[in-house]
Amino acid sequence: MAVEFPERVSLANRETPLQLLDGLSKQLGKRVHVWRDDMTGWELSGNKVRKLEFLCGEAATQGADHLLTCGAVQSNHARATAFAARRMGWDVTLVMREPPGGLDHGAPASGNLLLDTIAGTHNVTISAETYQAHGHSFDSFLHKASSDLRDQGASPYIIPLGGSCPLGCWGYLAAMELLPGKLNNAPFDVFCAVGSGGTFAGLELGCASFSHASRVHGVNVSDTADYFDSEIRKLIAEFMDMYATQGVEYEPRPLNIYDGFVGDGYGIASDDDLRFYASLARKTGMLLDPVYTGKAFRGMLHQLQTRPDDFYDDIVFLHSGGQHATFAFAEQYHRALS
Ligand SMILES: Cc1ncc(COP(=O)(O)O)c(C=O)c1O
Repeated sequence: MAVEFPERVSLANRETPLQLLDGLSKQLGKRVHVWRDDMTGWELSGNKVRKLEFLCGEAATQGADHLLTCGAVQSNHARATAFAARRMGWDVTLVMREPPGGLDHGAPASGNLLLDTIAGTHNVTISAETYQAHGHSFDSFLHKASSDLRDQGASPYIIPLGGSCPLGCWGYLAAMELLPGKLNNAPFDVFCAVGSGGTFAGLELGCASFSHASRVHGVNVSDTADYFDSEIRKLIAEFMDMYATQGVEYEPRPLNIYDGFVGDGYGIASDDDLRFYASLARKTGMLLDPVYTGKAFRGMLHQLQTRPDDFYDDIVFLHSGGQHATFAFAEQYHRALS
């Protein structure tokens, strides 16, 4: 049975290229491809856009005129949602968690926060302590903001953290339809960063639908691999409950999620990390970001170097974007590279 996608709007360049990393491929004796999903757009760049196409599709069907989402102050997802809302002609509110130690509200915004400012988002900021006191959850803040917006006559549509809900999983499920053909339908191993789990879940469901023998590998950039294993399993189960009639077949299998690359925490990069990203940029002409793709790439390299025989000849690294956050690391880069 053919997979039947839900309604979606057009926000992304869906046909992003695969690029071979020649040097690394020779070194590892495999073909290491980078799936350039950082090229899904510029304002609307990265993996989030694929999820947003489906989420905005549902929002439009429901008559929404306002998107409401959440994340850290440098969230790529929040920034992409801001520009998606503007593309749709809608307003946008972001519930944002400040970093531990607080945000200097007097300092000029940088990175994604600057882009949010340019997009004219309404921001509700909460401290790291308040977020912790609410069980590390944005839910109560999103519901309060939604009810305030309704009182003001708006029709908000809530997008959960990272767009990682069952509908958001369609983003990478649909993207996987395009990938096997680019690799002559040979099985492959695809690596991605895991931040809220929707990208991994979508890829996993996409393998089941379009390339059975292929496998997904994730590197968590926050929390632990065990935490994501259980969250992603739940997400896939919810997805299957909701969409089982739409042609997706999924047999649960062990998930490959690798711990050990979070470093000092989510959104924190060491000077050594930054030097590694700079050296990679100088060797390949490709820029990774310090929060997601950089850590995921290091995690992938470790796996390929320590147990090469466990992987197919074709390796795909999902470059899921995030480079705008680089500018929030300007001072640390300056120090690390001088
Ligand atoms: C650039 C980038 N890559 C990867 C991820 C991880 O994707 P997911 O949240 O679907 O796990 C995110 C967001 O969390 C991201 O912004």
